[in-house]
Amino acid sequence: MLNEKAEIRAGVLLSGRGSNFRAIVQHEQAGYFRKLRVVCVASNKAGAPGLAFAADKDIVCLDKCAADFESLADFEQYIVTEMKRLGVDLLILAGYMRIVGKTLLDAWPCAIVNIHPSLLPSFPGLHAHAQTLRYGVKVSGCTVHFVDAGLDSGPIIGQRTVPVLDTDTEETLSQRILEQEHELYSECLKRITEQAWSIHERTVVFDS
Ligand code: GRF
Repeated sequence: MLNEKAEIRAGVLLSGRGSNFRAIVQHEQAGYFRKLRVVCVASNKAGAPGLAFAADKDIVCLDKCAADFESLADFEQYIVTEMKRLGVDLLILAGYMRIVGKTLLDAWPCAIVNIHPSLLPSFPGLHAHAQTLRYGVKVSGCTVHFVDAGLDSGPIIGQRTVPVLDTDTEETLSQRILEQEHELYSECLKRITEQAWSIHERTVVFDS
């Protein structure tokens, strides 16, 4: 059980700007987490802007990306080898735009988390904001969930809602949701690392 450890070492995987990664590290630096420590970050894409934030921090930045390997499985094996060497207990996906394969899933069973900018199970996959606006729903939000072999389909840890306005564009909606993502992700990470929890069928149950 994650929460039974005195310190939980986290690795982050991203693909782009990394604002969720930044928010998590800023929460850590502000003393928000009792146990979580971000020790490592990696990107599947070379030069992802999000990686720059790790530069002057005590966070190892893995220097290889997916293009350095023949297959996604080989890239995943690199992540596993390097992050296990650093003692990573929990893998945090923060804007990681690849399907997670068996190599990662087997290495961290029930210990990979992701954030998605919709109220799952609505609008999984790419272009969640466009899907949301096209459908015409009046409420959207974000979801933090454990990662399984499906597309944004793992057990839900937490959700937050925001209104969808008639005047919204993808940009305005994504900005409103992103503000909530930056709080929700750390809130959920705190809960799974500091509270006892279990998964019944597919419901994450926290002990009070
Ligand atoms: C976020 O909207 C997240 O929900 C989704 O990808 C985006 C990443 O943004 N999975 P950032 O790289 O964390 O700024």
